[in-house]
Amino acid sequence: MERVPTEHVPVPPLAGLRPANTGNPPIGPLVKPPAPVLAPQIIGARGLAKTYPNGQAVFAGVDLDIRADQRVALIGSNGAGKSTLLKCLIGLLPSTHGEITTLGERFLAAPNAAQLTRLRRQIGFVFQNHGLVGRQSVLTNVIQGKLGLPGSWRAWHHALARQEWREEAMAVLAEVRLADKASARADQLSGGQAQRVAIARALIRRPRLLIADEPAASLDPAVGRDIMRIFSELARDHGITLVYTTHDMQHALDYSDRIVALKDGKVHFDRPTTRVSLRDMDGVFHG
Ligand SMILES: Nc1ncnc2c1ncn2[C@@H]1O[C@H](COP(=O)(O)OP(=O)(O)OP(=O)(O)O)[C@@H](O)[C@H]1O
Ligand SMILES: [Mg+2]
Repeated sequence: MERVPTEHVPVPPLAGLRPANTGNPPIGPLVKPPAPVLAPQIIGARGLAKTYPNGQAVFAGVDLDIRADQRVALIGSNGAGKSTLLKCLIGLLPSTHGEITTLGERFLAAPNAAQLTRLRRQIGFVFQNHGLVGRQSVLTNVIQGKLGLPGSWRAWHHALARQEWREEAMAVLAEVRLADKASARADQLSGGQAQRVAIARALIRRPRLLIADEPAASLDPAVGRDIMRIFSELARDHGITLVYTTHDMQHALDYSDRIVALKDGKVHFDRPTTRVSLRDMDGVFHG
């Protein structure tokens, strides 16, 4: 049988080998670098939009991915939509369009009741107004952070709380350096102390995600920094993902790994804090 002559096909250089005529020493085949191992996703939003029922459009087309252990500062001028976005992301407020996956719960608009319960169990909140019950002791306020967790009906008063919860509350109070105030009434605390109790109350939930909406807004500069430092260090030490809003640009720069800026209903920028300049910050509020 006649053989069909094989056509001569020039052999291309092997992938990863430089052609010999470059003068450079040949290098071995490239080993594909391993894909970077991404930390688990904590929050994912795609095409998120929110318009309030009164027609007030807040944002549209927001995409966001927040991974475990990140500390994210959310900045933007008054009314930019920071608080609205936080609430949508954790299912406390229905969004108008888009899809959200927070702590593994995927929902459009709003989570269902079961999802919301699961979300609440894993999220700690701290707001500008600390929301403590003034006539109750610091210890009781902290233990009440357990409300909504399984077996939590006893958390309404520390006298009924399980011994282990009292010990846990004392431990988190020690973490915010307030163990000596455990039996004080909450309304006898200074603003900074009250905010530290609010942090302890959030921590006792052992949250995977800590949401803080202007946690230092009503505090003097020194106490405000103190609160932000406590937040940031506790989040890092406990592996908690922290998302906070602030109007203080120094707080955004000093206590986050990443800054997300909202402007004109969009994500204006979203980048590692080390790559954000003061000029970038300025652009969020002017121009
Ligand atoms: N319940 C509501 N109904 C209608 N509009 C609302 C409601 N809550 C907020 N808004 C409007 O939505 C926009 C975004 O408000 P949001 O509170 O999210 O902004 P923010 O960035 O948190 O502002 P700030 O820095 O002042 O806290 C504002 O125009 C506000 O007036
Ligand atoms: Mg707000």
